[in-house]
Amino acid sequence: MTEATTTAEIPIRSAEESGVSKEQTIDPWSVDAGQDAEGNSLEFDYVAISKKWNTSLIDEALLERFEKVTGHKPHRWLRRGLFFSHRDFNRILDLHEKGETFFLYTGRGPSSGSMHIGHTIPFEFTKWLQDVFDVPCVIMLTDDEKALFKEDLTFEAVLQFAMDNAKDIISVGFDQKKTFIYSDLKYVAGHMLMNAWEFSKLLTFNQVRGAFGFNESTNCGRIFFPTVQCVAAFGTSYPALWSDNPGEERNPDVAAMQCLIPMAIDQDPYFRLLRDNAHRMARPSPKPALIHSRFLTALQGVGGKMSASNPNSAIFMSDTPGQIKKKINNHAFSGGRETLEMHRELGGNPDVDVPFQYLSYFEDDDEKLKKLEAEYRAGTLTSGEMKKECVTLLQAYVEGYQTRRKAVTDDVLAEYMRPRKMEWSRSDTIFKP
Ligand code: TYM
Ligand code: TRP
Repeated sequence: MTEATTTAEIPIRSAEESGVSKEQTIDPWSVDAGQDAEGNSLEFDYVAISKKWNTSLIDEALLERFEKVTGHKPHRWLRRGLFFSHRDFNRILDLHEKGETFFLYTGRGPSSGSMHIGHTIPFEFTKWLQDVFDVPCVIMLTDDEKALFKEDLTFEAVLQFAMDNAKDIISVGFDQKKTFIYSDLKYVAGHMLMNAWEFSKLLTFNQVRGAFGFNESTNCGRIFFPTVQCVAAFGTSYPALWSDNPGEERNPDVAAMQCLIPMAIDQDPYFRLLRDNAHRMARPSPKPALIHSRFLTALQGVGGKMSASNPNSAIFMSDTPGQIKKKINNHAFSGGRETLEMHRELGGNPDVDVPFQYLSYFEDDDEKLKKLEAEYRAGTLTSGEMKKECVTLLQAYVEGYQTRRKAVTDDVLAEYMRPRKMEWSRSDTIFKP
């Protein structure tokens, strides 16, 4: 059975389930958790998405094996289920165990000048994976995609956003020696473009429509674009990264390199198409492994969407400490009770409390979190106190970013974006003797 079943516009939660009036839908351009009979926003049902799309849930056994193979404690986002699902992550551990290598691939669609805190999740996680496994990483900026999908964005504008976003991404701390960042509009040529054409020859309009919900009026750029996002997982798309030897990119060993793609679950439809067809290329590639995160909740709470067009929906990486404080205090959905008396008596609900949710992802200290959660439920910790904890933590997170970003000059940017041979400990294992 192929993985690329039709996904777009198809409900994940069945309508028969009691009380659901508007069903959960998810695709790379829109994410909607649905509504109940009263029109209240529902929470995402990630287990249902995983089932529907036939991904594997990350379980204790996988985390134990991770620790055994890498010698690293799993990242808190693995321990706490923010990264909850995968395809073939075990293959990555197999390779690492055997002393072999792979490469990381992730990306960003530069639709605005500043990224929000949700966007930083896959990048922070990818950087951590890069450190743990000591592997190269390619980061795609899909400026082409954003110009094709947003009516009001010009190609010139998105190219500028790509450069600004690249500086944000560098500020995460990726190791320059083994990280290549590129804009599609500037880099997709030569071998990568040839891969995109070859891959496009393997896909029918029906398959692309099945994955993304296009129709006969969809502009033809949008129909071709998925091939570009897909072939970025082929080592052959980056001849300069693996060898100084011209012609080496045609070596089947380069195509055979395994890729691991961290992302939030909305990007999965692309990579189902890729996994179904990677072996059909003239130089076949293995199915890329995938690791999926949930969405960081918008400030408004469950069902809300972080959006660049609504500054109060999210913390942005360009926010000042004052803005962060104001947003959390005035706009973050609280699981506290209506009055302090009721809160003390009945306790708060951390499960829906956005400040606590953010704390649970950005506070590393498990004990401190448990304490906050227990005290909130008991009513001894107020929602104001929870907000204060959250504000302090996020101010430090964003400030750290901004400090590092100041050091990212145009020269630093140019160096990350220059195709050049990557340097890492297992680089010599690409080419089989
Ligand atoms: P984009 O710019 O929409 O999103 C960038 C990355 O952030 C994830 N994401 C989130 N993660 C957690 N919480 C949120 N609230 C949240 N919002 C967005 C996205 O899933 C994504 O991983 N077409 C892509 C760019 C791309 C890409 C890739 C992404 C190209 N190749 C490979 C991942 C992997 C895009 O527009 O992403
Ligand atoms: N409720 C979170 C979720 O479903 C998971 C979570 C939040 C959590 N806070 C936690 C897990 C604290 C462990 C510890 O996304």
